[in-house]
Amino acid sequence: MNFPSEPFRIKVVEPIKRTTRDERERLLREAGYNLFQVPAESVAIDLLTDSGTSAMSDSQWAGMMLGDESYAGSKNFHHFEAVVRRLCGYRYVIPTHQGRAAEHVLCSTVLKQGMCVPNNMHFDTTRANVEHQEAEAEDLVIKEAYDPHCELPFKGNMDVARLEETIRRVGPSRIPFGMITITNNSAGGQPVSMANIRATRQVLNRYGIPLFFDACRFAENCFFIHEREPGYAERSVRDIAGELFSLGDGCLLSGKKDGLVNIGGFLALNDARWAQAITDMLILVEGFPTYGGLAGRDLEAMARGLEEVLDEEYLRYRIGQVRALGALLDEGGVPIVKPTGGHAVYVNAKEFLPHLHQSQFPAQALAEALYRDYGIRTVEIGTVMFGKRNSATEDTIYPALELVRLAIPRRVYTNQHLSFVAEALVDLYHRRESIGGLVMTYEAPRLRHFTARFEEETPAAMVWPGAGFAAAPLS
Ligand code: F0G
Repeated sequence: MNFPSEPFRIKVVEPIKRTTRDERERLLREAGYNLFQVPAESVAIDLLTDSGTSAMSDSQWAGMMLGDESYAGSKNFHHFEAVVRRLCGYRYVIPTHQGRAAEHVLCSTVLKQGMCVPNNMHFDTTRANVEHQEAEAEDLVIKEAYDPHCELPFKGNMDVARLEETIRRVGPSRIPFGMITITNNSAGGQPVSMANIRATRQVLNRYGIPLFFDACRFAENCFFIHEREPGYAERSVRDIAGELFSLGDGCLLSGKKDGLVNIGGFLALNDARWAQAITDMLILVEGFPTYGGLAGRDLEAMARGLEEVLDEEYLRYRIGQVRALGALLDEGGVPIVKPTGGHAVYVNAKEFLPHLHQSQFPAQALAEALYRDYGIRTVEIGTVMFGKRNSATEDTIYPALELVRLAIPRRVYTNQHLSFVAEALVDLYHRRESIGGLVMTYEAPRLRHFTARFEEETPAAMVWPGAGFAAAPLS
C-alpha cells in the first residue's frame, strides 16, 4: 500500500534536534522511564498524541491576526458560533479551552453521586470527570473491540443490547445522558456507524435519555462512514456530519484533534436549561461565555480549522497516511490492532512482547525501547493507563488490551518520517526478546500515566544493531 501524496505544500519548517542513544538513555532514567516527562526537544518523531499537535494552515494563521480580543462579544466568537451551528445544528455553543474543560462543565453541572454515564468507551479524561462526581462511567462497546484481530468496519460501535440492559439495571432516572465517542480512541481509533448511532438513539429515546457525542475526531469518523457504510458513498462528509449530529442532543469537542488547532474546544447543545447552568459554571472556571478560556484569535483559528477538516482530499490523505503506516508494520510482521484506525496505529504489545506478563508493563516497556533506540515517542494505552487495583485484595485488574499508540499529528510528518517509524518498529520486533519489563515505583491516585515513575526490571541487555541510526535517527 502506498502513502498518499500530501495535499499541501510546506511553507514553515521546524528543525528536529538529533540525540544519541546514550543521551536518550540518560533522559529516560531522569524521566523515571515515563515518556510524558521527557523534554520534547529531545524527541525526533513525536507520536505521543495527535492532540494539539496539528500544523495550522496559512488561512488559520492569517485568522490569528484577525483576533478580536474584546472581553465580551468578540467577532471571532460570532464567527465560531456560526461555524459550529452550521456543522452540528445545535443551538447553544459554549467555548472551552480544551475538551476536558467541556467535560468538566457538563459533568459538574448535571451529574450527581450515584449516577451513571454509558458510553461506547470513555476516554481517560472523560472517565475521570464522570468519576470525579462519584458517578459510574460504563463502557459498552461491542465485544469485538477487545479483539485486536477482528476486522470489522465499525469496531467502535455501541453494544445496543448491553446499553438497554444497563439502563434497566441502573434506572433511567440515574442516567442524565448517554455518550458515543467518535472515533473510539481508547480501543484503536475505530469508527462508529450511522446505523449504530441511530440504534443507540432509539434505545435512549425509549427511556427519555439525551445523547451527547464526544466528537473530537468527528470528521475522521464521518470519512469512514463515507468510505464504508452502504448508502453514504455519494454523500459529502459535511452532509454526513450534519446527519450524525442531528441524531444527538449535543456534543463535546476537543478542537485539538479535528479542529486542527493547538488549543481549544467547545460544548454545543439544544437544551436551554442545561445551557444556562453550564454557562454559569463556565464563567466560574473558564471565562466569559464569548471566550471560554480562549483568546479571540484561538476561536478564529478553530472556526477555520473546523471548516478545513471537512475537505475530503485532506481526509483521504489523512486516513490514507495512517493506513499506509499500518500496512507497512503489518507487512513487517509487527502485531497491530486491525483494522487501522483514524488517527493512530496501535501496536499490540501483548503479542509483540509475549515473554512479558502484564504486571511488567509490556506496552510501556516497548514505548521506552522505541524512544531509547530511535528517538520516537509514543504512548502506552494499557496497564499503566487503565490498570486498576482491587481495593479489597490489592490485586491489579489488568485491561484487556495492552497497546502502544502511534498517534499521527495532522499535517506534520511526511511519509518519509512514517516509513522510518515503520522500519524502527520492524527492527525492534526482530530483536524483541532483548526488551525487559518495568517496575512502577510511583503512582498518583488518578490519571497515573502522566506522572508514574518506573525502574527497569533487569539491566537493559539490548543488542544495538549498529551505529547508523544512533548518529542519524532520521535516515
Ligand atoms: N475525548 C477524547 C476521545 C479524547 O481523545 C480526548 C483527548 C479528550 C476527550 C479530551 O480532550 O485533551 O482537549 O482535554 N485525547 C488526547 C489523546 C489527550 O492523546 O488522545 P482534551
